[in-house]
Amino acid sequence: MFEQVANKLKKAEKIVFVTGAGISQESGIPTFRGKDGLWRKYDAMKLATIDAFYEDPKLVWEWYEERRQNILAAKPNPGHTAIAELEKHKQVHVLTQNVDGLHQRAGSKQVYELHGSIITIRCTTCSFKDNITSRFSDLPPLCKCGSILRPDVVWFGEALPQDVWQDAIVQASSCDVMIVVGTSLVVSPANLLPVYAKQNGAVMIEVNPEETQMSSSMDLSLRSSAAKALPELLTIVS
Ligand code: OAD
Repeated sequence: MFEQVANKLKKAEKIVFVTGAGISQESGIPTFRGKDGLWRKYDAMKLATIDAFYEDPKLVWEWYEERRQNILAAKPNPGHTAIAELEKHKQVHVLTQNVDGLHQRAGSKQVYELHGSIITIRCTTCSFKDNITSRFSDLPPLCKCGSILRPDVVWFGEALPQDVWQDAIVQASSCDVMIVVGTSLVVSPANLLPVYAKQNGAVMIEVNPEETQMSSSMDLSLRSSAAKALPELLTIVS
């Protein structure tokens, strides 16, 4: 089995990654649903919905500002770097649910941020949108227009950025190999991307220490961490 998949990986022209919080776990960024997962400690409905934001923007911002500073201090790990390195050998697209920007910082060029970016800040009223890495001293931060600023992330109940989502479907449906890394695949619609790839005949590889609901559809499941497994996979191709 491993030999067969390795051969297909070698021959593949286009490789698409679907990544989730698990790929950044070894960079010191907590996942959402694991042992130390954020949604085990915090109530998503009080911190990650538009209603929660308007009810208590200071509280939501305090939580996001702490996450932002942790993310900005973090570094890409060998998992992110292996994906970026693979671009030297193959056409690579990264469809990520992560908002941390670590794929881009590792050097990946084709990154589709399905759930937005925690580094990008936008106005709730006007068209202001910018990458801001400095710490906000007063929370919630205000736009020049006077309205409240918000992180440019997708909250529960909000739609994905439609242009990014449509591009992601196109990439997922047209890849030779899909590698699903560090996601529990419980959040829709991102969890449909492996289904599009599978339906279109892609070879499916999963990198996750735990089983997921797509594990039985995989051609190969590597029960290992991303920082360990991805550099090893890269050696097959390079
Ligand atoms: P989850 O926390 O749901 O899942 C993380 C997955 O990573 C689990 O399956 C773990 O087994 C796996 N994992 C943990 N450590 C790993 C490691 N070192 N290497 C590889 N895998 C590892 O995170 P996501 O699936 O990304 O959405 O969650 C999806 C969405 O739910 C997030 O984007 C966020 C959250 O609510 C929004 O905020 C809209």
